[in-house]
Amino acid sequence: MSKMSAEFRQKIKRKQLKIAVVGLGYVGLPLACGFAAKGFSVFGLDVDQDRIRWIKKKESYITDVSSAALGKVVRQGYLKPSSDFGILKHVDVVLICVPTPLKRKYQPDISYIISAVKSVAKNIKPGTMVILESTTYPGTTHEVILPIFRRQGLNPPGGIYLTFSPERVDPGNRKYPLVKIPKIVGGINPESAKLARLVYKIIINKVVCVSSARVAETVKLLENTFRLINIGLIDELAMMAHKMGVDIWEIIEAAKTKPFGFMPFYPSAGCGGHCIPKDPLYLYWKARHFGFVSKFIKLASKITTAMPGYIVERLQELLAARNKPLSGSRILIIGVTYKKDIKDLRKSPALDVIELLQKKDAEVAYYDPIIPYLKFKDINLKSIRLNAKSLEKFDCAVIITDHSAIDYDFLLKKSALIFDTRNVYAKTRDKKIAKL
Ligand SMILES: NC(=O)c1ccc[n+]([C@@H]2O[C@H](COP(=O)([O-])OP(=O)(O)OC[C@H]3O[C@@H](n4cnc5c(N)ncnc54)[C@H](O)[C@@H]3O)[C@@H](O)[C@H]2O)c1
Repeated sequence: MSKMSAEFRQKIKRKQLKIAVVGLGYVGLPLACGFAAKGFSVFGLDVDQDRIRWIKKKESYITDVSSAALGKVVRQGYLKPSSDFGILKHVDVVLICVPTPLKRKYQPDISYIISAVKSVAKNIKPGTMVILESTTYPGTTHEVILPIFRRQGLNPPGGIYLTFSPERVDPGNRKYPLVKIPKIVGGINPESAKLARLVYKIIINKVVCVSSARVAETVKLLENTFRLINIGLIDELAMMAHKMGVDIWEIIEAAKTKPFGFMPFYPSAGCGGHCIPKDPLYLYWKARHFGFVSKFIKLASKITTAMPGYIVERLQELLAARNKPLSGSRILIIGVTYKKDIKDLRKSPALDVIELLQKKDAEVAYYDPIIPYLKFKDINLKSIRLNAKSLEKFDCAVIITDHSAIDYDFLLKKSALIFDTRNVYAKTRDKKIAKL
């Protein structure tokens, strides 16, 4: 066992290992709370002052972290929120969980990673373990991050321990909380991966070491590319099934009974969130540098991004069958977040549907029990109240996201027409329901 590994083990045993989490969003906050709840001293760093204030007030802004759990670790002094990177000179481990958006379609924007890593490199002591959790293209850790540390005189093997470990959390999934999702770690050298494994074993049941940071980076992209392609496939099959007059939902339910070789995916208004729509495009972009063009990724991305347009087309047909033009019709969008019961609007297809409907001069309103106001581009809306009087006004209610708190029986009773894109009325045979 190396000297560093022995030192880490001792510190972990005595709960003296000091940890910093940079970026306290959907990924970083649960992670920081996880280590703090185990009695470790955690510094939570973010450039967003509002988020720091919320944590100091012991109020959570992330669905997967309750205010009670957050309040407990802050009150006990285990989680210390801050925007002062100077505190990094006191820590043994830094986990980086900053956003990785796209600059434009097919072009990654890793500027948040670069900025966070520069701040980290300027402030850590030699021998610190740095782990990147943000999803990124293969080679980022070796080609972009390591040189930043080298420029600060922090060179491997002893000056810096550097690992990539993709976050695989699924917000809102109670069956698989952080502790039950195996963690992948890939270091710039075997010692880095070994140390990262020791760190994650504090809060995660199973840690899987791979041979390099590049492999770990690609594992995450394989997982999300697999999802995007299957979502694109089922969206296309849903459009095909509609043309052929067969019910895609019934087909999926039946196919699901096969105990092997099939995994159900469901059609929807598109693909949202900060991961699935853009992560595969990181891989697409990097592969092009090797002269390889991924046809699957491009096609799946095209199909899923076209779904809001398809929803609007179908709605137009539904209304036309009732002698109503879309222009001037009153449309109620039900559920605007990208995912059930998660307060996250990033890349939500509902926003595209609303925008497209407004462009076609429909009168659009929305109802979402967890999003009271909606402000994007020049659209400014307030969630309506779901009551008989408000529902009577609409020509059609379009279900985009199926939150648990929605009263679907009431919606059905009081609506003139429902376009159900989530199959929430799977067992209801009512003529005023149209399925995707
Ligand atoms: N949201 C998910 O479900 C999910 C799941 C798996 C992986 N990921 C990946 O994890 C990463 C983070 O995603 P997220 O959803 O937590 O993002 P987020 O936007 O919720 O949180 C990121 C936080 O980083 C902060 N930040 C930005 N630049 C910073 C800097 N230089 N220093 C300190 N803080 C900084 C932001 O203020 C923000 O609070 C992304 O790469 C994403 O693709 C996300």
